[in-house]
Amino acid sequence: MSGPALWYANRGTGVVLLVLYTLTVLLGISATGRGPGPRWLPRFLVQGLHRNLALLSTLLLAVHVASAVVDDYVDISWRDALVPWGGSYRPLYLGLGAVSLDLFIAVGLTSVVRGRLPDRAWRLVHLLAYPSWGVSVVHGVGIGTDANDPAFRWLVAGCLAVVVLAGVVRGVARLVPQRS
Ligand code: HEM
Repeated sequence: MSGPALWYANRGTGVVLLVLYTLTVLLGISATGRGPGPRWLPRFLVQGLHRNLALLSTLLLAVHVASAVVDDYVDISWRDALVPWGGSYRPLYLGLGAVSLDLFIAVGLTSVVRGRLPDRAWRLVHLLAYPSWGVSVVHGVGIGTDANDPAFRWLVAGCLAVVVLAGVVRGVARLVPQRS
């Protein structure tokens, strides 16, 4: 199977995924006790949004990967999507996509069985969301057709700024002693 529709689907889902994944990480940072975010927004609401956006990202990621694999115009197999640096198509940046996907799957699966895991183990695996997100940004910038488009660059810069800023705000909040 081939054709421009698959290519557009892959590029389109890639860009939307970048935004959704960034928002998911941002909400994850905000959902913790000392995360940034308005105090009037109940934490259960932020956590619910975080979960739902993660679910939506999973669906979009499935479409993103499937549209790349079923497109015969490029030589990408299901194995290449999961095992980093095994394929022939843009191995470095596609491999980073695979790393991001593997980490994403680890975070997702451990969240599904969270109730059966020690909290510390779940938390440690959940931290892999940060490298997964960061690596996916490098993947998109490195392999994307739109990578040289100024609009795409601004979008990437915005995503990076949002997550770094949220991380800094949270880091500072941790250092400031809490009022009882
Ligand atoms: C969470 C993981 C991922 C994210 C956030 C992501 C995001 C992106 C982004 C933003 C782009 C640039 C789209 C553009 O050209 O505008 C892209 C391109 C691409 N991605 Fe991913 N990706 C991920 C994982 C994967 C995986 C596992 C594969 C393996 C099949 C893959 C295959 C591709 C391909 C082939 C392109 C190039 C499309 C083109 O020709 O422009 N991605 N991705």
